[in-house]
Amino acid sequence: MNKPLRIGVAGLGTVGVGVVKILSERAEFLSAASGRPWKLVAVSARDVSKDRGIDLTGVRWEKDACALADADDIDVVVELIGGSEGIARDLVEAALSNGKHVVTANKALIARHGIALARIAEQKGVALNYEAAVAGGIPIVKALREGLAANEISSVAGILNGTCNYILTEMEATGRDFADVLKDAQALGYAEADPSFDVGGIDAAHKLAILASLAFGQEVSFDDVEVEGIERITAEDIKFASDFGYKIKLLGIATRGVGGIDQRVHPTLVPTGSPLAAVSGVFNAVAIEGDRVGLLVLEGRGAGEGPTASAVLSDMVDVARGLVMPPFIVPTDHLKAPAKANVEKRNSPYYLRFNAADRAGSMAEITRALAEASISIERIVQRSEGRDTTSGRLPVVFLTHETDEGSMRAALKHLSKLEDVAGKPLVIRIEDSGSR
Ligand SMILES: NC(=O)c1ccc[n+]([C@@H]2O[C@H](COP(=O)([O-])OP(=O)(O)OC[C@H]3O[C@@H](n4cnc5c(N)ncnc54)[C@H](OP(=O)(O)O)[C@@H]3O)[C@@H](O)[C@H]2O)c1
Repeated sequence: MNKPLRIGVAGLGTVGVGVVKILSERAEFLSAASGRPWKLVAVSARDVSKDRGIDLTGVRWEKDACALADADDIDVVVELIGGSEGIARDLVEAALSNGKHVVTANKALIARHGIALARIAEQKGVALNYEAAVAGGIPIVKALREGLAANEISSVAGILNGTCNYILTEMEATGRDFADVLKDAQALGYAEADPSFDVGGIDAAHKLAILASLAFGQEVSFDDVEVEGIERITAEDIKFASDFGYKIKLLGIATRGVGGIDQRVHPTLVPTGSPLAAVSGVFNAVAIEGDRVGLLVLEGRGAGEGPTASAVLSDMVDVARGLVMPPFIVPTDHLKAPAKANVEKRNSPYYLRFNAADRAGSMAEITRALAEASISIERIVQRSEGRDTTSGRLPVVFLTHETDEGSMRAALKHLSKLEDVAGKPLVIRIEDSGSR
């Protein structure tokens, strides 16, 4: 029998507990699949006395998680603590530097420091695997790293945050507003007490930055991701969108743009019949366009104990089989330096909603502002039932034909100066990513 795979797990929260359960429940299969026994040698978490519902008899408890990186009897460190800095980063850096394989679910760490960590892994000839960091149980990293290697990828678009997708789905189903549904999501455990990372789009942006690197062969560049959350979406927007034949989804989109890669996370109108529009509740999905394979859509659970631990274990199976691949498909020296696309040249149709004065001539002024920016209008809808009772203003929605972002920015600047337009207009891009 081959030498056992000796494992150290740091973090015994939702994901860590899921991993330990699978290690004991599927021990026989995992050992057969990799040709060697697996042994959980040591674990670390903050609170040694907490009952976690798992049997840790015979497993060493390390008070300091970083001790796992130094232990001679550990081959692979599984980092499930979280956070881009502090203990998680120290542990992963030390483990790789000491020639240990690392498996992690930590999207913030990989989005921020993935390239530097990959360089250490490559120098030491060890694995740095992070399947669980993107879209939970969906094997999207493997799909890009292995299954789609023959393809030039032209776009990756995904529903990458289950909390946002749950909130938008509930708003649509019940007609309730964002704040109301967010409270329910928190009560159900679908949203954190501090939901800002999720609803503000940061969590999705971490995942998108990783996907973009894998898809386009450039270094991860989280700072180049444009991020907008779902906080300003109202039940009224969802109803307007539905009447026009669209759903509103928070998408992460990465494409080749003018002068570089275009990476953005924002609410998006997607055609009702498209695969991404059909993804509801806490589910995630990723649509990839490859030149050989065409459109591929993967859908599944993006978070939670089982799906996330499933992804962690798939990475561990690779380690147990002795598979060591460059963490970002090609060695880091072959990755292109980050180049951000010129956003002013990005094209799409738009949904625009604002409150306008209910008086003769106000609509003419608004359409003139759009025309001066060379934006042509596809549809206009004004609804008296949404009238603001104090100001008397009415919500007006425009769908535009395809236009570049530079023109849209110019039009918005002009609109903001009009007396008849109140507040900041809500602007949502319309995309057909994943529709073909
Ligand atoms: N939850 C999901 O569905 C999901 C999905 C995809 C990816 N992820 C990623 O997976 C990772 C873990 O997430 P999680 O949801 O399992 O987190 P969690 O439930 O909050 O668990 C975190 C664990 O880390 C431990 N910990 C915190 N500080 C520590 C320290 N200084 N030393 C040692 N242990 C420490 C905690 O110990 P105590 O238990 O003693 O407090 C806890 O066991 C994160 O990177 C997250 O982004 C999670």
